Amino acid sequence: MSPEVAAPARAASPYDGPPHFGPLIRLAGVEVVYQTAQRPVQALTGVNLEVADGEFVALLGPTGCGKSTLLRLVSDLLRPTSGTVEVRGNPAAVARRANEFGFVFQEAALLPWRTALDNVRLPLEVVKYPEEQRIARCEHLLEMVGLSKFRGNYPHELSGGMKQRVAIVRALAWNPSILLMDEPFSALDELTKAQLQDDLLDLWSREKKTVLFVTHNISEAVYLADRVVVMSAHPGRIARTLDITLPRPRTADMRETMEFLALVREAREALKGESRKAAA
Ligand SMILES: Nc1ncnc2c1ncn2[C@@H]1O[C@H](COP(=O)(O)OP(=O)(O)OP(=O)(O)O)[C@@H](O)[C@H]1O
Ligand SMILES: [Mg+2]
Repeated sequence: MSPEVAAPARAASPYDGPPHFGPLIRLAGVEVVYQTAQRPVQALTGVNLEVADGEFVALLGPTGCGKSTLLRLVSDLLRPTSGTVEVRGNPAAVARRANEFGFVFQEAALLPWRTALDNVRLPLEVVKYPEEQRIARCEHLLEMVGLSKFRGNYPHELSGGMKQRVAIVRALAWNPSILLMDEPFSALDELTKAQLQDDLLDLWSREKKTVLFVTHNISEAVYLADRVVVMSAHPGRIARTLDITLPRPRTADMRETMEFLALVREAREALKGESRKAAA
């Protein structure tokens, strides 16, 4: 293991004021209406959600219920039609300008002409992180997910799971405090998925991030999260929140315990209820 490499400090942070004691993320009375050529689409309504600093929250819900919309709101890629979205008590735009967000999507979306290392390094080039420390930081991140040996490989030379690992550490490169993940493991086989879930939990506990993780996979949500938020569709809203009381660190054998299976059942029932309502 290489020596710990300091994560980049954020330049000119707008948070250099008094400390903020409320929730890290707060959505209050949020409504989103998309204007389309045919008709307005009400994507979210009455969404109230608070996420604490360091919390791991999974979002579950039927397709089209507004999970990706919610991530876009938090990261200020979209403004709500009404209601407020705050990060550290400021509008989300302030957090976006301070590079507080890291994104991971279903597809790794690596640049094919850059090696694994150079893909991870890209965000640090964008934020002008000191050049001599860039490689050390990125090598350290690649090592944390077992990819040191593949640092010089191009994306087409990596498996799907490896590419997704590169995408995750790339999202962490500039040391964002909030990781927004939109179905990041849904294209992977079961074993690779389980491995990446453990890698992610390891990174999360070591790098102390706040995570919003969108998934359709109920047991994945329960395994990873402190809290599972179940959403309903048409229009999307928060239907239920389940506290996941399983101890940490989470281990593979926990997946067989009564407690785990009971939580999965509870989340599935909540989701089924919402899907039934949506279909009615
Ligand atoms: N740019 C857009 N313009 C118009 N409508 C949109 C736009 N983006 C999303 N929508 C609509 O808003 C609703 C929520 O979409 P969103 O992509 O957030 O759902 P989702 O829960 O992420 O779905 P999935 O599980 O399929 O990824 C859907 O009805 C969708 O058709
Ligand atoms: Mg989506």
